[in-house]
Amino acid sequence: MTSGNLYLDSTLALAVFTSTLGSLQYGYSLGVINAPQKIIEKSYGQSLGVWAERAAGSSENITEEDPGHHPSVIMYWSLSVSIFSIGGMVSSFLVGFVGDLKGRSDVASLGRNVFSAGLLMGLCKMWKPHIMVISGRAVMGFYCGLTSGLVPMYIGEIAPKAYRGALGALHQLAVVIGILISQVIGLDFVLGNDEMWPLLLGLSGAPAILQSLLLPLCPESPRYLYILLGKEQEARHSLCRLKGPHDPTIDLEEMRREKEEASKEARVSIFSLICSSVYRKQLVVALMMHLSQQFSGINAIFYYSTAIFSRAGVSHPVYATIGVGVINTIFTLVSVALVDRAGRRTLTLVGLGGMCCCAVAMTVGLKLQNEYSWMSYVSMSAIFLFVSFFEIGPGPIPWFIVAELFSQGPRPAAIALAGCCNWTSNFIIGMTFQYIQAWLDSYVFILFAVLLLGFVLFIYFRVPETKGKTFEEIAAIFHKGRRIPTDNGELQELKSSTDA
Ligand code: GLC
Repeated sequence: MTSGNLYLDSTLALAVFTSTLGSLQYGYSLGVINAPQKIIEKSYGQSLGVWAERAAGSSENITEEDPGHHPSVIMYWSLSVSIFSIGGMVSSFLVGFVGDLKGRSDVASLGRNVFSAGLLMGLCKMWKPHIMVISGRAVMGFYCGLTSGLVPMYIGEIAPKAYRGALGALHQLAVVIGILISQVIGLDFVLGNDEMWPLLLGLSGAPAILQSLLLPLCPESPRYLYILLGKEQEARHSLCRLKGPHDPTIDLEEMRREKEEASKEARVSIFSLICSSVYRKQLVVALMMHLSQQFSGINAIFYYSTAIFSRAGVSHPVYATIGVGVINTIFTLVSVALVDRAGRRTLTLVGLGGMCCCAVAMTVGLKLQNEYSWMSYVSMSAIFLFVSFFEIGPGPIPWFIVAELFSQGPRPAAIALAGCCNWTSNFIIGMTFQYIQAWLDSYVFILFAVLLLGFVLFIYFRVPETKGKTFEEIAAIFHKGRRIPTDNGELQELKSSTDA
């Protein structure tokens, strides 16, 4: 069986499933903190009120039911939300180091620590809830930063090239399913209430248990075993487990060439990747893909959708938010089905272009909703379409395209940098959106429309198609003059960067 064969072996399916349990956890942790904000603030208020009264005697005007305006509660709440991104920013930098040291599949064993993070949050009422939640979310963010790099790296390395895109997009599918689950069980009549909210937060550690159980059944990445550790026999064994019984000679030959290329260059650290002119074009493309994902404004919708829907005149904003989660999941599935046929570049362009038009429509809707009541339908439809276009391409593709753009040598450093760029811009949007909204009012989405237009132009002129190409062929696109092997085994020199 060749690497292009469309046969999905059960071990490959199991390996993908096990690793994406980490992505599920990431999505759940992203979404879980929004719905129960008021009740968690109340619990923080009860715990902090005692000290505030003791220390200053000045908290009389803050009621137990609505402590959300107390400066300490605001501070601890903001920290509970943002510490997750800070944990992710720090650990995404370590992805390359951890991936090289422990192997790509070992992400699951880190899950044990996440289980303890879940436990901290689940038992938070037993001590100071704000401290327990903040500690738990910091550990969770740290783990999710590693997950967001290691899962696409592992899947990218074990997937046959014919459906590397579809399998790569499963990371995002698991993220959006995680977000949706958290939105549904965060409803007040399920777990989003005074008694059950610690369990709601604590459940974010649950997938780690299943992941730890399944991990021993998953093979390590053959590319890691062969190219990094030089263990040919183990790589062969891993290939046969992943693709069923077959002659792995062609795959090993491809890896041998990649190893040869890698051995010509010194080990690529994050610092040397930033300084090296050899990888500059790939790096700019990788970072721009991640910047376009975050500065498209998607998380402005995810973090503040309920408030945005209320502003747009929607009568049941919480259910509209769940509607966003459902649409999000459906269109990620569409992307999984399309990405290896339509290609990464086309889907990203269609997605970002569509989002740009929706951002304009949202602005028109928000601006004119007082004059024409039906404008609230325009705003609502535009929000749903905005999310749909996001999941068609800009959502899933940046996560796996970085693993495709770089060969084995610089791959871990590139994934680390791109991941850190993603988490940092996510953090910036989360922290600044409310201030920008206060400043620009109804015109807030025009800002994203302008950014989106810029990203469309960049991708149109600078991003090549990677669908169906080997890692070596992709690297060659960026290195004019480099020789690549043709299907009949001969070497052909690339005349220009667009030849491939
Ligand atoms: C992507 C983004 C994440 C966003 C999610 C929404 O995974 O990285 O920030 O919340 O998509 O589906």
